[in-house]
Amino acid sequence: MTAPLRLIGIVMVMVGCGGIDDGDDGPLGGSLRVTGRVVDFIERVDVGGAASVSTSGLLPPPSIETQGATFTIDGVPENSAFHVLSQVAPTHRSTYSPAIEVLSGDVTGVEAPAVAETYLASLATAFGVVPTAGRGVLFARLAGELGPRAGIDAATLVVDGGAVIAGPFFLDVNLMPDPAATTTSASGWVVYFEVEPGVVGMTAVAGAQITLDMPVSPIGPGAVTVVDVDVVDGLPPRPTNVSFSQQVFPIFERRGCVACHSGNGPGRDLGNLTMNGSTNVVYRELVEEQPGRVVVADPPTSQVLTMPSREDPPDIHPNVTFTSPNDSDYVLIEVWIAEGALDN
Ligand code: HEC
Repeated sequence: MTAPLRLIGIVMVMVGCGGIDDGDDGPLGGSLRVTGRVVDFIERVDVGGAASVSTSGLLPPPSIETQGATFTIDGVPENSAFHVLSQVAPTHRSTYSPAIEVLSGDVTGVEAPAVAETYLASLATAFGVVPTAGRGVLFARLAGELGPRAGIDAATLVVDGGAVIAGPFFLDVNLMPDPAATTTSASGWVVYFEVEPGVVGMTAVAGAQITLDMPVSPIGPGAVTVVDVDVVDGLPPRPTNVSFSQQVFPIFERRGCVACHSGNGPGRDLGNLTMNGSTNVVYRELVEEQPGRVVVADPPTSQVLTMPSREDPPDIHPNVTFTSPNDSDYVLIEVWIAEGALDN
């Protein structure tokens, strides 16, 4: 990315942050546009009929226009990850899309999959599940750098968050149910029924020699959630001796925190957190100004990690930047806190 482009992006965000007194400009700091279509999960063609679309993970919700199967979402902040929830009744089940990650520019060509009622019913029958209305269904596609990953064992997969009652079940290469399978096919697809509403992630069981990275995603009662899970062989190296000034401080600029937390947002409570100062100022803001922002005794509960992450119930933060605790910047901040949140 060239420096001038980056500057323009930041200036736009700051204008958004500063001019929010009227409250009619859309979400705080949001200036980006995301466009796409709602497509059938299997056929990959536009759903017939009018889709209705909402978002999960942005606060306040951005403005959305739909026309047939296409949607335009306006007012998304930079460095945000969110999910589209599509509704195409009565042919399709309400479906949360995989996480849509927005960096510094507009995103076009998003395909939000919607799972057909007939297909879902055929899976439930094949897998011998009687779905209840209060629970959700999770479709996860396990893929590595070279594409979908075959041969990943049921015993390796752990769903964190909502309790799971039925699964994992596996889809074959044609996305048809394979009730006898105990590992992923070359399609990489795993299905869980009867997942408790809330948010879920997925990890590999302790001792497994692979890493699974799934964006923390919403589960809705009676809804389907479709996710992409990154599979990497081996365990990620965990950093040590993390430096605040060299490694943590630059994250706040790089991941767009400074654009909003710049103290230039009159009329709006930014949690009173200013991040556009020197290393020393930002250190004091985080560690000394207010308890809770950094919690050395229990690093993952630190607001500097929870606010830009996805929780259930959602917190008051306008956007999600760290899609999972495996995000490398999340890990750096977490280790820095665990090592005592030093001014180093
Ligand atoms: C789109 C604008 C925006 C972006 C980007 C953003 N924040 Fe925030 N943040 C807010 C707002 C608004 C609040 C205050 C929420 C409230 O209290 O109503 C807040 C609150 C917080 C708080 C709580 C402060 C307190 O003491 O109450 C922390 C910590 C925080 N943000 C960290 C971050 C980090 C770290 C990033 C980058 C990864 C980030 N934020 C990116 C807008 C933003």
